[in-house]
Amino acid sequence: MHVFCGLKKHKPPTVWLIEHLFPFLPALFLCVFYKVQTHLCVLSLRTFFNMLPIQMVDLQTQYGRLKNEIDTAIQKVLQSAAFIKGPEVAAFETELQDFTGAKHVIACANGTDALQLAFMALKLQPGDEVITPSFSYAALAEVLHLLHLKPVFCEVDAKTFLLDPEQIEKHISPKTKAIAPVHLYGQICDMDAIIAIATKHQLPVVEDTAQAIGAVYTFKNGEKKQAGTMGAIGTTSFFPSKNLGCYGDGGAVFTNDDQLAKQLKMVANHGQPQKYVHEVIGINSRLDTLQAAILQVKLKYLKEFEASRNAVADAYDAVLEGIDGISAPIRNADSTHVFHQYTAVLKDAADQKPLMEYLKSQGIPSMIYYPTPLHKQQAYAQHISMPLTEDLCTRVISLPIHTEMAADQLQHITTTIKAYFKA
Ligand SMILES: Cc1ncc(COP(=O)(O)O)c(C=O)c1O
Repeated sequence: MHVFCGLKKHKPPTVWLIEHLFPFLPALFLCVFYKVQTHLCVLSLRTFFNMLPIQMVDLQTQYGRLKNEIDTAIQKVLQSAAFIKGPEVAAFETELQDFTGAKHVIACANGTDALQLAFMALKLQPGDEVITPSFSYAALAEVLHLLHLKPVFCEVDAKTFLLDPEQIEKHISPKTKAIAPVHLYGQICDMDAIIAIATKHQLPVVEDTAQAIGAVYTFKNGEKKQAGTMGAIGTTSFFPSKNLGCYGDGGAVFTNDDQLAKQLKMVANHGQPQKYVHEVIGINSRLDTLQAAILQVKLKYLKEFEASRNAVADAYDAVLEGIDGISAPIRNADSTHVFHQYTAVLKDAADQKPLMEYLKSQGIPSMIYYPTPLHKQQAYAQHISMPLTEDLCTRVISLPIHTEMAADQLQHITTTIKAYFKA
């Protein structure tokens, strides 16, 4: 009371407060600043830590979503103990026939075997040539070499990175015995042109559709067909990260030709048309029952998975459109895209490694599909020049894409890309 009266008498309270608090003002300011900063920091850390780690493909979250159905399917097989050639294998083959529209589906052990079965069933002979892209995964070239066939590498289209039909004919020789396009990243090659060339030269087409299962091609006459069902034989892989992936290895071969189907089944089963009769040299390539049971569940979701992947791709497209240094993948107007990969192209190859490093530093994985053209791999080396393919390998970058991408993950990826390009 006394002090108060004294104050009132001599100085107004605000002046008193300023005078007495003045020495503490810097400390007070620091406290407030620190509090705000800490809060912001905690907020951003919280955003970061609440966000699930970003993966190229998130199979754990997807399994969590399908757990009940998958676990039930697995239990059923375990209890039946029919691990090989159980009823789920034939059932899955039929369901995949219905899904793809292929007349025959023959399940096998993996996508590489599927390719081997295709060329064995076509009875290609050592030295025969197969036209195929060099900008691709190694499985096809590997199988051709194993069978003593020769891959004749062909350039890809500059926009879609798919086998360029305009380049095919110049590679055709008397030794050419097949054309093997790869529906890379999830969209279908120019099949109108490829089938026209194949028909003209009476060559079978083997479609590698490991990355494009479910994609649909619209022919110039309006007819629609699924990836893998347009050529003589289509092959696919059920590797876990594929759009239709199992929980181990798996693959399948498609054909609409009854004779080829018979041959494919026989080759996949030690060359046996019936037990202990070995008509031709074959291999042992089976999809096991557990994988078939898992695939039966996952096939039901394939269209939904495709839509989720397309939603991620659309979001990436929208952001990349506004950035000068990186371009969104160009879509083939005649094919739907199932976006097995979202592969963007850098304007400047010098950005490939630094961008990957920057993304990594922000918790974002990325991949190069593929860093080395097949004709430059030691195992399949050919002294040829393929400028477009060689250049693409230095400028492509694949971003995370899968069925479980959360909005905050996507936001983090796109913001980080924009930050790198200062866009
Ligand atoms: C285009 C292509 N072909 C073939 C394969 C081989 O499939 P798998 O790993 O099941 O043998 C793959 C797998 O990555 C692929 O991407």
